[in-house]
Amino acid sequence: MPDPLVAGNWKMHGSRASIARLLDDLVEHLGSCETEVVVCPPVVFLADVASSLEGSRIKVGAQNISEFDEGAYTGEVSGSMLREFDCRYVIVGHSERRQWYHESDAQVADKFVAAQKVGLKPILCVGETLAEREQNLTLAVVRRQLDAVADKVGGKALATAAIAYEPIWAIGTGVVATPDEVQQVLAEIRIKLGGAGARTQLLYGGSVTAKNAEQLFAQKDVNGALVGGASLDAEHFVKICKMAGLG
Ligand code: PGA
Repeated sequence: MPDPLVAGNWKMHGSRASIARLLDDLVEHLGSCETEVVVCPPVVFLADVASSLEGSRIKVGAQNISEFDEGAYTGEVSGSMLREFDCRYVIVGHSERRQWYHESDAQVADKFVAAQKVGLKPILCVGETLAEREQNLTLAVVRRQLDAVADKVGGKALATAAIAYEPIWAIGTGVVATPDEVQQVLAEIRIKLGGAGARTQLLYGGSVTAKNAEQLFAQKDVNGALVGGASLDAEHFVKICKMAGLG
């Protein structure tokens, strides 16, 4: 069985003060939680977050990474820079990056390569739009997004990442995919990964809350969650992390 993993994607939220409060609560309440817990703050807060979490079980992740090692890329942050701040994970291919920053499948694959090159574990996001789901294209879209990475790094390297199924229509909308819908897609991903995928952490993301997490985690191929909104609320996030460890 893959180890349970819950990652909190704080997106562009928080201030030094609010993040310090959130971290105090997380450290206090997640001390003995068996789940692998990751928080992904805005990049400017990485140093603060890493130092507050030193010695705790909670790990630090980034929300984005440059596909380049270094150079004249204004505004970008490289994998080796992230590593200097104790970052262990990085979200790659989040739908907000694909949609608003026009990251293509190929660029996402390059970012995946850049992450693995410096020893960051990618949390690769895949998922369809509502229109694609309505046209029955969910699995085709997910396969295409996975293939773009597998073609570049190989199936085995893909399987060492965490993969998050995040239907775009469920992100930040309060509309959560049903446990059956989630299980169906994650089961397909597991099959696609083949033997190498037996221990791959497969996550669901999209309006996960302390209320719906238990049902989602009860699904066979759900090993955890990528949590947006609810990860900013310590009480809710702690509940979600603890539930993931019970499965
Ligand atoms: P949400 O975001 O939980 O707020 O829907 C999930 C995500 O974007 O990863």
